Amino acid sequence: MTGPMKTCVLVSGTGSNLQALIDACRSGELNIEINHVISNVATARGLDRAKEAGIPTSILEHSAFAQRDDFDHALALLMAFGEPQLIVLAGFMRIIGPQVLDPFAGKMINLHPSLLPLYRGTETYRRAIEAGDRTHGSSIHFVTGELDGGPVISQVVIPIFENDDPQSLAARLAPMEHRLVVATVRFMAEHRVESHEGTVIIDGMKLDIPLRLQADDQLTTGQTP
Ligand code: GRF
Repeated sequence: MTGPMKTCVLVSGTGSNLQALIDACRSGELNIEINHVISNVATARGLDRAKEAGIPTSILEHSAFAQRDDFDHALALLMAFGEPQLIVLAGFMRIIGPQVLDPFAGKMINLHPSLLPLYRGTETYRRAIEAGDRTHGSSIHFVTGELDGGPVISQVVIPIFENDDPQSLAARLAPMEHRLVVATVRFMAEHRVESHEGTVIIDGMKLDIPLRLQADDQLTTGQTP
């Protein structure tokens, strides 16, 4: 397939990860075409970021739908509009069902602020601190029907300091997560990543442990010292 990968980004809030992707496209670091940003929250800051970048936006408020299925059906139609080859859930705070998952299987990735499989769901920073963990991080995984449960592609790891609270930890992780999403989407745009029967395939080989973001922003396989 030729040309930049057509990419749809779903947001519900701040959209700082969307901004990281936009900035990386502008700088030439990333060769994708973000051709649609969709939000289920009309006031999401992410929508403003998309508009400022000249990217078409859509708002689909779940509160307008009586049934979850109806929302999913409408979302799938909206997503299909831009013929996306990649869909990035960047802070999209909505569980999606088979009507969305099935047509876009293997093309949807989600960002989650924990070292999956640890701490699926919310309040990951507080939970990691309270558990006495020494490290925290972010993961990017293929989206499946299981909440934060799909095969993990990549992770970034940061230390937890003794005086950290959830806010300080979140603030330190955010810029690292931005670097992770850019590096991971670059891998996807280069057609180096696939999802196959619940596993991640990188360059044709099954990935046993997630790719790890290094200090030079490269993603590597294997554990680091
Ligand atoms: C990120 O921490 C991401 O891991 C989680 O939601 C947050 C979104 O942040 N899923 P932003 O909207 O991209 O700033």
